Formats: sequence, C-alpha cells, structure tokens
Amino acid sequence: MIDRIVQLPAANATQALGLELGRSLTAGSVLLLTGELGSGKTTLVQGLAQGLNIDDAIVSPTFTIINEYLGGRLPLYHLDLYRLTSAEVDDLHLETYWLGLEAELGIMAIEWAERLSYLPPDYLRIELTYDPVDGRIAKLRDRA
Ligand SMILES: Nc1ncnc2c1ncn2[C@@H]1O[C@H](COP(=O)(O)OP(=O)(O)OP(=O)(O)O)[C@@H](O)[C@H]1O
Ligand SMILES: [Mg+2]
Repeated sequence: MIDRIVQLPAANATQALGLELGRSLTAGSVLLLTGELGSGKTTLVQGLAQGLNIDDAIVSPTFTIINEYLGGRLPLYHLDLYRLTSAEVDDLHLETYWLGLEAELGIMAIEWAERLSYLPPDYLRIELTYDPVDGRIAKLRDRA
C-alpha cells in the first residue's frame, strides 16, 4: 500500500523531502531507498542529514558501503548496496544496526535496498522514479 506520493520537480524538492524525514523520524527507523541509477537516493539522504542537524558533507558510500555520521540529533548510517551480491549483503549483518546491538540506534538509510535478502521488522520504503512530467516521483510505503 502506498501511503504518500510526492512530486519532485528538482533536486531541492528531493532534499526537502529528506529534510522533513530527518526532522521527524525516531531512533531505529530504517529507510529502504529504491530506484534507478541517478534517481535521487543520495540527494534524499543529503536532506535527511540536514534534517538531523548533521553538518558533514554526505558523500555516496558506494565504495565504503557504510558511512556513519554521529554529529546530529541521531546517528545516521548511510549504506549503498549497489556493488554487493546478496551473499555479501548477508555478511554485513545489518540487523546489528537496526536492532541497535553494536551501534547506537539511529536512522539507517539504505540505497539499493533491493539487494537485501531479509528486511527489518519496521521500515519505510521510498521508491524514486523518473517521471516525464514531474521530473521525479517518490512513493512512500510503511512496512510492506
Ligand atoms: N527531483 C530531482 N529532479 C532532478 N534532478 C534530481 C532530483 N533529485 C536528484 N537529482 C539530481 O540527480 C543526480 C543524481 O542524484 P543522486 O546521486 O542523488 O542519485 P542516486 O539515486 O543516489 O544515484 P545512484 O543510483 O548512482 O546512487 C544529481 O545530480 C541530483 O542533483
Ligand atoms: Mg546514490
């Protein structure tokens, strides 16, 4: 079920959606970001960081896999699974993050969440798509 559809005519609208989420999400929230190459996943996380009052520049974790930002309202764990196989994703044991076992509970933002073979108990899925009229569209779904 889609809970909300947001039109994103320009990059600043994608950032603004992230900012709104960064101000409102609670510790333990997991954002599953899906969408084609260049659809705006990292841009949304940049806004998310801003909403969490994180001052660091958000750079794509394509090669580092996970970037942690601890200076804001809550920790932000930013992941990009693009280059990983499902087996490699399993080896990351991401549940230790979303359960808060080894790291302080924060906000997890996972790009290329399609690569996950199992999901956290709660999550917000954000699917970004190109749209000929509106530039980009975000579809937000809770949990399923
Ligand atoms: N709503 C939008 N409208 C137009 N351009 C946008 C929008 N959102 C983001 N962009 C631009 O699209 C480009 C790619 O964005 P971004 O890097 O966030 O995509 P991505 O989904 O993270 O890509 P990747 O799949 O490579 O990780 C950037 O130049 C960004 O400014
Ligand atoms: Mg990206």
